[in-house]
Amino acid sequence: MKKAFSLIICLFCLPCLLLAAGTPSIKVDTDALSLVFRVGDNGRLYQSYLGHRLHQQTDLNQLPLGTEAYITHGMEDYFEPAIHVVHNDFNSSLLLKYVSHETKRTADGVEETIITLQDEKYPVTVKLHYVAYVHENLIKTFTEISHQEKKPVELQKYASSMLHLNNAHYFLTEFSGDWAEEVRPSTQPLYFGKKVIDTKLGSRADMFVSPFFQLALGKEATETEGEVLLGTIGWTGNFQFTFEVDQLGGLRVISGINPYASAYQLKPDEVFRTPDFYFTYSYNGKGEASRNFHRWARRYQVKDGDKTRFTLLNNWENTSFNFNEEKLVSLMGEAKDFGLDIFLLDDGWFGTKYPRNDDHQGLGDWTEIQEKLPHGVAYLTDAAKRQGVKFGIWIEPEMVNPKSELYEKHPDWVIHLPNRDEYYFRNQLVLDLSNPQVQDFVFGVVDGLMTKYPEIAFFKWDCNSPITNIYSYYLKEKQTHLYIDYVRGLYQVLDRIKAKYPTLPMMLCSGGGARTDYEALKYFTEFWASDNTDPIERLYIQWGYSQVFPSKVICAHVTSWNRQTSIKFRTDVAMMGKLGFDINLSGLNADEAVFCKQAVKNYNALKPVILDGDMYRLVSPYEGNHTSTMYVNEGKDKAVVFAFDIHPRFSEAVYPVKLQGLDPQRQYRVQETNRMPNARGGQYAEPKTYSGEYLMQVGLNLFTAYGTSSRVVEITGE
Ligand code: DGJ
Repeated sequence: MKKAFSLIICLFCLPCLLLAAGTPSIKVDTDALSLVFRVGDNGRLYQSYLGHRLHQQTDLNQLPLGTEAYITHGMEDYFEPAIHVVHNDFNSSLLLKYVSHETKRTADGVEETIITLQDEKYPVTVKLHYVAYVHENLIKTFTEISHQEKKPVELQKYASSMLHLNNAHYFLTEFSGDWAEEVRPSTQPLYFGKKVIDTKLGSRADMFVSPFFQLALGKEATETEGEVLLGTIGWTGNFQFTFEVDQLGGLRVISGINPYASAYQLKPDEVFRTPDFYFTYSYNGKGEASRNFHRWARRYQVKDGDKTRFTLLNNWENTSFNFNEEKLVSLMGEAKDFGLDIFLLDDGWFGTKYPRNDDHQGLGDWTEIQEKLPHGVAYLTDAAKRQGVKFGIWIEPEMVNPKSELYEKHPDWVIHLPNRDEYYFRNQLVLDLSNPQVQDFVFGVVDGLMTKYPEIAFFKWDCNSPITNIYSYYLKEKQTHLYIDYVRGLYQVLDRIKAKYPTLPMMLCSGGGARTDYEALKYFTEFWASDNTDPIERLYIQWGYSQVFPSKVICAHVTSWNRQTSIKFRTDVAMMGKLGFDINLSGLNADEAVFCKQAVKNYNALKPVILDGDMYRLVSPYEGNHTSTMYVNEGKDKAVVFAFDIHPRFSEAVYPVKLQGLDPQRQYRVQETNRMPNARGGQYAEPKTYSGEYLMQVGLNLFTAYGTSSRVVEITGE
């Protein structure tokens, strides 16, 4: 295997000589996929193939040349280009020719191919990067653009990736919504012309649409069948996906930063490195595509992706801004009593001149409110320590209320127009992270707290406003850099935090789930999926995020939204993600409290399967009145199945749930867990044994037609 690998490397490392002799192919391979490029007689680079892995080298030369891989503005293609550059002489054409390529192994199971292209008339270089995660069947692509013209060139378009697909039918699924209604999937066929999914919100970038899509080819994909490309971009800001079907029926997919109001002056020798675009391609439906992403994310991308996660008690839904020391200490006691790991103090603890007792003031002034916390955060970290829980704290360091000392002292740190009235989103404005002084300030919010209170063990980092009133005092004549430099500034800050506090877990929040991308997840261990914690809504929201993200990054809390549902139902839903509680635990009745304490224990025992196992979405909530999802560990000897009756109709016929991902030969013990104390009946209340084959072919009777209810079943290999 090793030998074969080094042979491939050697072949790829023979530079352009080979290409000149007969234009051989450049092949990016994973275990199951190949992406093939060829150089045409005209010296330009073409994408010849994307699909099942091709094993025979001799076949590659038979492939049709295909479509130019990274289409430039100003030449003979009549559709949307990947790149548009304005040179020093105002000529805006670009013609890229192949110069060289190399493939190298960058880590275990990771191979990077870099293809270098250049214009013969202008000194512009474009490097296309393709990083293959071989066993996860996932490819990461990004582009580096540079030049040696005398003065800056203007980049008007700068895609991370351009992919070409050829099929008679395309079906695009996007995930759109708003606050409290995130990631609602909708599927549409693509015909001639363009469909664009983008965002112009800047900071709270994904409020209306998530940065990922599914593209089914030939026919609509199901969970287990169909060809589907799943793609997402790692950029915590404005992104754009363009899907364009040309006159021949070819589909071009261009992904990158949204170039809207973002022309970039690129200095000579500066390298413009685009964000990463990641994609996988499955021939077995959406489920496999998701699992590819989940495995890759845990192994290579997410901060502490290979580590477990803490349960927590948050106070936001319970107390909102109304708390004091005594209250918080009693909540810590409850967290401990229920077996939770962290107590998380939310918004409302700071502001001296303008105490943050509601969301109209104080944001930006990160010192404790005397009336609420007379002994400061140290008192809370001490109390947490005494009670035996960790202490976490909420911040929103990129933002400012106009009514704050920060705004009074540094109005030039705030993104706002110098000559117009301000308008507000949630009564606040965004700090100008393109400004290094502001970066220092934002870094200092975390660093200051950690220095003063080193016992802080967790942060919830919120971001409630899009960029409004757009104008940077710092950028002056380079206003069109703001959307990009804002995000780069954010990463500078997060890099510093990660370097200084490498093991500090942090939750990313954006008024719910308006910041959910894989670049952010290099710095954050998890994200808040939605302020909507109605468990029924959460079944849909978590289903949506699970298309791309593994359960360990999707925070799910038990709250008192939708009290019509039982505490068991709410807890069962939250156990499918990173479990937390945000509810008045002392208000639970005795049975409910016993149930929750046991559920936390069960969750801790099942965490290795739920957080690190393979997820199979068995029954979609979008297709009926019931839904079910299961998780299976790598050894296929432990699984857990969640089943929910959402709004069953009276006496409705219900069908067995067929499991997936088990070993058909193996015998499994099946037993319901997470039962309410004194629960009676239930087909799997007592353990029963079935073969994996039976469980997958015949299934389990997990649904009922008797109202909104839920079941959790443990499957253990014998
Ligand atoms: C929005 C978040 O989504 C909530 O969870 C909470 O932290 C509030 N902000 C606090 O202002």
